[in-house]
Amino acid sequence: MRRAALIMALACLLARAAGAPNFSLPGPCSASPWKPQFTVPDDLRTGGLPRTLSLLVTTPSCPADASLPFGSPAPVLFFFNGFMNKASWYQRIVQQIASWGWVVVQYDTPSLPPVTIAAEVQLFPALAEWVAAQANDTASPLYGVADPQRLATSGHSRGGKLASLVFTTYPELVSATYLVDPVDLSRFSPESADNPSAARALRESGQAIGMAAAGITGSCNPVDGSSAFMWAAAGNGSWRGLEPGAAHATFADGGCVVNAGADLLCGRGKDSRAQAAALTSTQALAWFWQQLVGEQQTVPPSESPMPAFARWVAAQQVAGTLEFEVKGEEGAALWTAEAARAAKEGGLEAPPALPTAAEEEAACAVAGGR
Ligand SMILES: *[C@@H]1O[C@H](CO)[C@@H](O)[C@H](O)[C@H]1NC(C)=O
Ligand SMILES: *[C@@H]1O[C@H](CO)[C@@H](O)[C@H](O)[C@H]1NC(C)=O
Ligand SMILES: *[C@@H]1O[C@H](CO)[C@@H](O)[C@H](O)[C@H]1NC(C)=O
Repeated sequence: MRRAALIMALACLLARAAGAPNFSLPGPCSASPWKPQFTVPDDLRTGGLPRTLSLLVTTPSCPADASLPFGSPAPVLFFFNGFMNKASWYQRIVQQIASWGWVVVQYDTPSLPPVTIAAEVQLFPALAEWVAAQANDTASPLYGVADPQRLATSGHSRGGKLASLVFTTYPELVSATYLVDPVDLSRFSPESADNPSAARALRESGQAIGMAAAGITGSCNPVDGSSAFMWAAAGNGSWRGLEPGAAHATFADGGCVVNAGADLLCGRGKDSRAQAAALTSTQALAWFWQQLVGEQQTVPPSESPMPAFARWVAAQQVAGTLEFEVKGEEGAALWTAEAARAAKEGGLEAPPALPTAAEEEAACAVAGGR
């Protein structure tokens, strides 16, 4: 009898563990890189776009018995770099998202001449078509792995602007977007035909977005053209997670030397790059889940990631690492109710200790730069 009860309890526990994903933990899939070349169609080779783009495609490989909160085949995230940044500088965020069963597509563009935003927006449907063709090609690593019907965008800085523009320009192709300290317009990049305003397009669309924002602003993310500016344009229901300890460059990791220079230019808070990536990827996953899954189908509470997410947010808020808000009275009220319900279910766990910025820098000094 006791044995049976024990087995039952254990089975329940396991089912719960398998059923309710905790996006702050690594997901069940391993992620591996694939680096194909993408040929830019001739008629789209404008605005500085080269003949070919080097893609960095991160593909998940998931155990057959894993319960995948986003389903299978995997939705596809296009993650756009910040200005002059490299795809590889976002690997922590990308790997965490891929581990929950996403394909992530990134690319590098030449720094000189810089490619225009308009050209990259125009290119997007061709990239989406490429993914669809790969998913349908038995010889491709994406065959049967990627779901070309479920696309999302994300990106940092200029890449956040691009992610938002692609989302608002192609609502029939892209289901959701998550912006990472986006920079729309600045003194150095004023609005023009080649550089349309993402905030303007977002306001006109009325769409909701998810966003991670640096708490520290400066010359890299000026107040009047960056995340606060995009937030003002975002539709009701949008999420913003302000990370008080993060500056603009904390979201990218280009190695010790690059990071030291970027911190001089953009400022630095107490958050390490590992911390900013953890905060950002957890929120991005929860936002994508809500947009792609939660709003489309009824998921039993035992399988919903939202209670764990709400508790994670509350614990971060107590620790002072995150200020989370939902835009509009209705959305804010729903979120408050969700958070209250989650808090009742269990105590707040202290967020796991991640290195501070000072510790990360000390590790660089020991390594003698990378
Ligand atoms: C997928 O490939 C098959 C066989 O090559 C082809 O008939 C079909 O049209 C393709 N579908 C798409 C969506 O490309
Ligand atoms: C989610 O994982 C975090 C570790 O990142 C842990 O502290 C927390 O207890 C977990 N939450 C739930 C509800 O399991
Ligand atoms: C957004 O919510 C606010 C109240 O919080 C409301 O005044 C406004 O009309 C809403 N906007 C839209 C577009 O629904």
